[in-house]
Amino acid sequence: MRREIIAGNWKMNFTADQTASFLKDVKAELGGLDKVVLFCVPYTDILAAVEAVKGTDIQIGAQNMHYEASGAYTGEISAEMLLEAGVTYVIIGHSERRSYYNETDEGVNKKVRRALEVGLNPIMCCGETLQQREEGVLKEVIRTQIVGGFAGIAAADAKKVIVAYEPIWAIGTGVTATDEQAEEMCAFIRQVLCELYGDVSEEISILYGGSVNEKNAKSLMSMPNIDGGLVGGASLKPSFVQVVNYE
Ligand code: PGA
Repeated sequence: MRREIIAGNWKMNFTADQTASFLKDVKAELGGLDKVVLFCVPYTDILAAVEAVKGTDIQIGAQNMHYEASGAYTGEISAEMLLEAGVTYVIIGHSERRSYYNETDEGVNKKVRRALEVGLNPIMCCGETLQQREEGVLKEVIRTQIVGGFAGIAAADAKKVIVAYEPIWAIGTGVTATDEQAEEMCAFIRQVLCELYGDVSEEISILYGGSVNEKNAKSLMSMPNIDGGLVGGASLKPSFVQVVNYE
């Protein structure tokens, strides 16, 4: 019933030329897909990426967008621009954006709403720092991010949002959350969504992210509340094919 999704997050890696050659190889290896597979690429790689996956079911996503339709926002990109370029998914509120660019739950919420308005699939990220986990405020932190991120979003739209739980201490560190830690938090996120939306919470895909690779994908993805992965470093390697085909 829920969409199963494996999303690559390239972050600031690969030029357009590298994009074309990487996706050409991956596309040949992937074959028919039984789940949603996408690559969230840098803005300047979008056109090359869309071109490279033409004729396949692979989707192309962006890593950020602005919440306004247009205007005096130097350096920014709108949801409409992404849509026109062929993008179908967009990561919103990644912890790197929250920490380096001061993104707040309020800003994340504006972006999620804007993405829904134009018909992009938002992947809304949440996650705690190691310190927050150790201090025992983990669930409060996640609850605040989820409630803030979904503010003002009706149930019919809420089910189009994909949530990515990414503990910050597991991102790019090689330290993956255990299957149980990841499941506990994805189940908690679903519980908060249930408080907000009732049964609709069962239709919302929740991904785990943080050092997912071809070795740990299978056990993480088989947890009941984990519907896929947001994959950083491992999405830049040919072995990403094994992450997708983890079964
Ligand atoms: P990682 O990154 O897989 O390299 O830990 C995940 C992410 O930041 O989305």
